[in-house]
Amino acid sequence: MREEMAMWHLLLQLLPIICLTAGAAASLAKPGCPERCGDVNISYPFGVGDGCSIDGLWFNLTCNKTYDPPKLFMTGYEVLEISVQQGQARANTFVASYCYNSTGYMIGYNSRMYLDKSGPYTFSNTRNKFTALGCDTQAFIKGSLVDSDSNFTSGCVSFCSEEQRVVNGTCSGIGCCQTIIPVGAKRFDIWLGSSANNHSRVLGFNPCSYAFLIADDGFKFNKKDLAINGTYGDGKGKLVPVVLDWAIGNQTCESAQKNSSAYACKSDKSTCYNSTNGPGYRCNCSQGYEGNPYLEGGCKDIDECITGNYTCRAGKCKNKEGGYDCTPNIQLLVVILGVGLSLLFVLIAGSFIYWGLKKRKIILLKEKFFRQNGGLLLQQQITSHGVVVTTKIFSAEELERATNKYAEDRIIGRGGYGTVYKGILPDNTTVAIKKSKIVDETQIEQFINEVFILSQINHRNVVKLLGCCLETEVPLLVYEFISNGTLFHHIHEEGYSSSISFEDRLRIASETAGALDYLHSAASIPIFHRDVKSTNILLDHNLTAKVSDFGASRLVPLDQTQLNTLVQGTLGYLDPEYFQTGQLTEKSDVYSFGVVLVEMLTGEKPICMNRSQEERNLSMHFILSMKENRLFGVLENRVVDEGGVEQLLAVARLAKRCLKVKGEERPTMKEVAMELEGLRGFVQHPWVQSNHEETQSLLGELEIGYSGNGNAAGKDSLNNNTMSGLEIGR
Ligand SMILES: *[C@@H]1O[C@H](CO)[C@@H](O)[C@H](O)[C@H]1NC(C)=O
Ligand SMILES: *[C@@H]1O[C@H](CO)[C@@H](O)[C@H](O)[C@H]1NC(C)=O
Ligand SMILES: *[C@@H]1O[C@H](CO)[C@@H](O)[C@H](O)[C@H]1NC(C)=O
Ligand SMILES: *[C@@H]1O[C@H](CO)[C@@H](O)[C@H](O)[C@H]1NC(C)=O
Ligand SMILES: *[C@@H]1O[C@H](CO)[C@@H](O)[C@H](O)[C@H]1NC(C)=O
Ligand SMILES: *[C@@H]1O[C@H](CO)[C@@H](O)[C@H](O)[C@H]1NC(C)=O
Ligand SMILES: *[C@@H]1O[C@H](CO)[C@@H](O)[C@H](O)[C@H]1NC(C)=O
Ligand SMILES: *[C@@H]1O[C@H](CO)[C@@H](O)[C@H](O)[C@H]1NC(C)=O
Ligand SMILES: *[C@@H]1O[C@H](CO)[C@@H](O)[C@H](O)[C@H]1NC(C)=O
Ligand SMILES: *[C@@H]1O[C@H](CO)[C@@H](O)[C@H](O)[C@H]1NC(C)=O
Ligand SMILES: *[C@@H]1O[C@H](CO)[C@@H](O)[C@H](O)[C@H]1NC(C)=O
Ligand SMILES: *[C@@H]1O[C@H](CO)[C@@H](O)[C@H](O)[C@H]1NC(C)=O
Repeated sequence: MREEMAMWHLLLQLLPIICLTAGAAASLAKPGCPERCGDVNISYPFGVGDGCSIDGLWFNLTCNKTYDPPKLFMTGYEVLEISVQQGQARANTFVASYCYNSTGYMIGYNSRMYLDKSGPYTFSNTRNKFTALGCDTQAFIKGSLVDSDSNFTSGCVSFCSEEQRVVNGTCSGIGCCQTIIPVGAKRFDIWLGSSANNHSRVLGFNPCSYAFLIADDGFKFNKKDLAINGTYGDGKGKLVPVVLDWAIGNQTCESAQKNSSAYACKSDKSTCYNSTNGPGYRCNCSQGYEGNPYLEGGCKDIDECITGNYTCRAGKCKNKEGGYDCTPNIQLLVVILGVGLSLLFVLIAGSFIYWGLKKRKIILLKEKFFRQNGGLLLQQQITSHGVVVTTKIFSAEELERATNKYAEDRIIGRGGYGTVYKGILPDNTTVAIKKSKIVDETQIEQFINEVFILSQINHRNVVKLLGCCLETEVPLLVYEFISNGTLFHHIHEEGYSSSISFEDRLRIASETAGALDYLHSAASIPIFHRDVKSTNILLDHNLTAKVSDFGASRLVPLDQTQLNTLVQGTLGYLDPEYFQTGQLTEKSDVYSFGVVLVEMLTGEKPICMNRSQEERNLSMHFILSMKENRLFGVLENRVVDEGGVEQLLAVARLAKRCLKVKGEERPTMKEVAMELEGLRGFVQHPWVQSNHEETQSLLGELEIGYSGNGNAAGKDSLNNNTMSGLEIGR
């Protein structure tokens, strides 16, 4: 009983049926034919009953229902499984076994399985192994092949002297041996023998030897198998599964396809394969299809999206005939599109807002600069004085272009309050552009003042303001370009000293005096220049004088002759009375002009550290020298050479009067202008040299005859010693 149980163990071990990958759930049998027999599914070309198999002969199976469950038989062998896809079937075959008793008596059975030579079946050479179990065993398999009558014989020997030497699970010649069979095996006989001494030495742990051909997935060596004392003959537990290859006909695919009515691959989605184990061919569903290729329309499309055998990176699987597509996921697409559009919208809106803000910022900035640069002040000035300002307003870009972005090589002057650039406007006119250095309130005021005053003046000997620009951080003034530098430059600077003749000096003095007179009396509102000095008198190419720099100038309401102001001016030129009282009158300009006159006569600077303490100031020095009758000692040589004695004395006396400490005692600018004009006449008309009255009477004539070119160019004055904002004696 115990042995019987052990035998059952072996058989259970050998019998596990590993499912060959069967077709889909759909029936693979011919329509109208039995689909199953017991546990076995029947697939066409196999069939049970008339007209159910492909040939009614080799594929005609029988289902014996006397068994429970019923068993399927193929020419006497039980069929366990049919696989259309692999062209294989599984069938039961016999085990060969020999057992011994202690006297060496042997009882056992050989095994044989004969497949018909002309039938479609062969033993699979790849899926089956010839296997023998035992410790004193030699096993042989002798068979015949499908082609001609050739036979094959194969076998293996297994030893084990002691039970301990047997390795569990490993079939490698100790207790178990295996070998392969050749291609195209159609039948075999197996028999066993003792290899040494009828198991007498191993009887204790291995009474029997076994051998069989078995499906490779149906056997795994277990050490316990050696102990099985199989008594054979009760008809049970003698079977093991074997894999059979089958094929259709005895032709190749190509020749079979020639007779389409006999061609077995009926499905249009099928592919033909030559049999690899004997003649004939078999069919398979094409890639992407599954089902039964031997049935018309038997191959059905695989929905890969359902079976999950697909790879779509970021899309959705969409099934199609024979494959699948990865369609972009609509939802994902919508999301991506949505996000993209939103981003785009945000970007566009953002940039709109950005540009809007930037534009607004620029406008605000310009407005701010306009205010900061005294735009409002200018408007105020205009309304309070009730005059029209005809200044052109330049744009910041225009001036930037004109000065080549304020290039270094365009700088023509630098001073306390800013830089002067040479600029070329689009219409090719050359201009001087004054750019304030820093913006502070007093400068703004001066700046606006200058704009306002200059826009009121149109005089040949006053530098012309062409326009201004208030939009930039620092205000910009645009003047006519005066090419020949300042009077200061021509009198004092090295290489230019004595460059101007006495005649020219007198003319320049006269022109300057005329311009100042015009400011004081002829302009619509009297204007006090407040900063008359040689650096503020520009000269053009004809050495025509151009009074400039009206930053400190004052408009004087008509009913007033003096103004209380912050004392402002340049050291050396500053009216001492104004300096002490803070009361600005037109005579302050007269005093400053006197200093300029003396400068022109002596060629000396208004303040000179080389002179003694009391004479450091040029006006003092000059007056002192006149008082001490040494005037000709202080006059410049060229002046002495070119001027007549009388004439020089007259000019010197005029200068002295201008320099009177008391403003009241100084002549008016008109008187100065007229006198100078007269003295000029002296030079031009030697025949009236001594006749003052005549000279004066000629004045009108001369003015008519004068045709100075007012359209000259020059250079704005910039000074380094301006006492701008000097807060003394307010
Ligand atoms: C037999 O076919 C049925 C459906 O018809 C299926 O469920 C079953 O798994 C198949 N059996 C084998 C062993 O393939
Ligand atoms: C198929 O086999 C069965 C029984 O083995 C037999 O009765 C039947 O006639 C066969 N069919 C054909 C078409 O030969
Ligand atoms: C079915 O099997 C039984 C028992 O092996 C046998 O007697 C009987 O003849 C078989 N029937 C057919 C139709 O083969
Ligand atoms: C072995 O078996 C044979 C045949 O059955 C028998 O004659 C013999 O006595 C047996 N020997 C032993 C030791 O059992
Ligand atoms: C093959 O074996 C069979 C019997 O087993 C024998 O009749 C036949 O002659 C053998 N063929 C060859 C070629 O040996
Ligand atoms: C041999 O291995 C099998 C599993 O492969 C195991 O079940 C069995 O107990 C083992 N036997 C021995 C003696 O180790
Ligand atoms: C094995 O037994 C057989 C008969 O059963 C006998 O002829 C043979 O001599 C025995 N061999 C040995 C080595 O005992
Ligand atoms: C095997 O079984 C037979 C019969 O059942 C018995 O005579 C024999 O002694 C057993 N051998 C061993 C080794 O157990
Ligand atoms: C192929 O099979 C047909 C019938 O099935 C047979 O008449 C023919 O002789 C076979 N040819 C060969 C080469 O086996
Ligand atoms: C094609 O096959 C059919 C059916 O098997 C047969 O009747 C016919 O003679 C074959 N034709 C040729 C050309 O082989
Ligand atoms: C089938 O075999 C023949 C001859 O060996 C060969 O010409 C043909 O290409 C093979 N067909 C296929 C589909 O392998
Ligand atoms: C999945 O599909 C590929 C080709 O698309 C095929 O080769 C493979 O056998 C399929 N696997 C399964 C499990 O169906």
